[in-house]
Amino acid sequence: MPKDDNFLKANNARHLWHPMAHPAEMQKTPPTIVTGGAGVRITDIDGHQVVDGVGGLWNVNLGYSCQPVKDAIAAQLDRLPYYSIFRGTTNDCVIELAEALKDFFAPDGLSRAFFTSGGGDSVETALRLSRQYHKIRGEAGRVKFLSLKKGYHGTHFGGASVNGNANFRSAYEPMLPGCFHIPAPYTYRNPFNESDPARLAQLCLQALEDEIAFQGAGTIAAFIMEPILGAGGVIPPHPSFMPGVEAICRKNGILLIADEVITAFGRTGAWSGSRLWGVKPDFLCTAKAITNGYFPFGAVMIADAVAEVFEQDTTGRAAIGHGYTYSGHPVGAAAALACLAETLQLNVAGNAAARGAELFAGLQALQAKYEVIGDVRGGHGLMLALELVNDRATKAAPDKALPGRVQAAAYAAGAMVRVSGPNIILSPALILTADEAQVILTALEAGLRAI
Ligand SMILES: Cc1ncc(COP(=O)(O)O)c(C=O)c1O
Repeated sequence: MPKDDNFLKANNARHLWHPMAHPAEMQKTPPTIVTGGAGVRITDIDGHQVVDGVGGLWNVNLGYSCQPVKDAIAAQLDRLPYYSIFRGTTNDCVIELAEALKDFFAPDGLSRAFFTSGGGDSVETALRLSRQYHKIRGEAGRVKFLSLKKGYHGTHFGGASVNGNANFRSAYEPMLPGCFHIPAPYTYRNPFNESDPARLAQLCLQALEDEIAFQGAGTIAAFIMEPILGAGGVIPPHPSFMPGVEAICRKNGILLIADEVITAFGRTGAWSGSRLWGVKPDFLCTAKAITNGYFPFGAVMIADAVAEVFEQDTTGRAAIGHGYTYSGHPVGAAAALACLAETLQLNVAGNAAARGAELFAGLQALQAKYEVIGDVRGGHGLMLALELVNDRATKAAPDKALPGRVQAAAYAAGAMVRVSGPNIILSPALILTADEAQVILTALEAGLRAI
């Protein structure tokens, strides 16, 4: 049993460092201690219950009470709690899961899975296998990676190197050599001063072509992007953007990696972000919702054409020198199988689209009332953001503490929302009801009123 409340409060953030936070700040302002979760709600140590507008961390898509996933985990722990799938052994669950994922991702043209322990590992896997792909084909010079500014790809050295936000880079430089970034299709702020999404998409695509010409296509292994940028502040590109990237990649022999750690399994209202935009990537990175956040797990899905190059190799160059102790963990695989079945049966993509539209309209209504909201982003399922500003005319950033004040007041009023820089991000469970969406909006308005 956990220790008593006084013990927990006295030791909160004292002997652990929290990710994405300053240790001293956490000690000064200790984090909320969450002790329970049911449906789409969480309860803290003081018994305060709120709708979780964050959905864990964009991962608890089916909420906190998904019994089939819990049962699958418990049963698998009893049957076989671990066995490795490194060369020579495998387990029954992972075979079954690979078949289920092949069917799920067939419309995306992806038929092979490489299993990982999470999103950062999936990104690392895709980056490494894309270099290997070119080496197998005799193009060993293709080693560079291109990506978007504002993109988020986790914090491993590879992922942080293609990451497009200084917060995750500066303190850890130097990064991996050979990684280059192009402007994101972020209409609210961009170097072209272009607010029209279609025209901005074209300008960003031109910047991509320009960078490829400058670097030399024959030096580039892959381009990695999120179909909708998430942690960078929820930036949905114009529908022409990702297909445009795909066409440029194809023309130049560059692999396309879709980082769908957030967007896979229905969050955008489509079953994958690539499908939302009608794109067929070479690699598709997943994690998070693949197990509903209940077990650390991920999978990189691999396109048929890429698989063929590896599987038909006779030189030995396609031997994979990559993998994790927990790749294909049977408990994770059992969780993922149950999760996939539940995800499809509940048609959470359809609900994400409907609830996302309601939240988007609600946020736009808030923008009409509160000057502090500079930009509202969403429109594609349950990933939305408010960008707060000090002054709408100049778009000056708000006081650093202001988004936190909105969050604290919203929490007191009944919803957990997430602060990321000047942004308030919403990514609730995909099983959210219309009433629960309304609770989030009402609490957020209380937060905005309080500042
Ligand atoms: C698009 C994207 N890629 C990669 C990651 C890293 O995943 P993890 O934190 O599981 O390593 C994240 C995490 O939020 C993400 O949003």
